Amino acid sequence: MSEFVTVARVGDIPPGTGNSYAVNDRMVAVFNDGGDYHAIDDLCPHMGASLAAGELREGVVACPWHGWRFRACDGTWCDNPRIKTDHFEVRVVGDEIQVLVPPRPPRVVDGPAPG
Ligand code: FES
Repeated sequence: MSEFVTVARVGDIPPGTGNSYAVNDRMVAVFNDGGDYHAIDDLCPHMGASLAAGELREGVVACPWHGWRFRACDGTWCDNPRIKTDHFEVRVVGDEIQVLVPPRPPRVVDGPAPG
């Protein structure tokens, strides 16, 4: 069962930027897009750069390493909209920015059992 977790306060993330936070053993990038907050997986699926360090323009974050672009509102990869990185619910309660990050499902490994 997941619960909303406070990661920052209003004002901690300047408009047009993002910060990364550890929540439920995951790194989450939280962006302030003109006062609207969005949260996606912080690790770029290409080679693992922090997306929170990317440039945010018109709701799209560009990875700081090689420029892959993702919509902050839902994690859609702009160059192939069929592919998404994880995105998470965000809410503001009072001045607290909170995210809901479910734990990762356990990994299923195919192949013969060790032994
Ligand atoms: S690590 Fe993000 S585009 Fe390469």
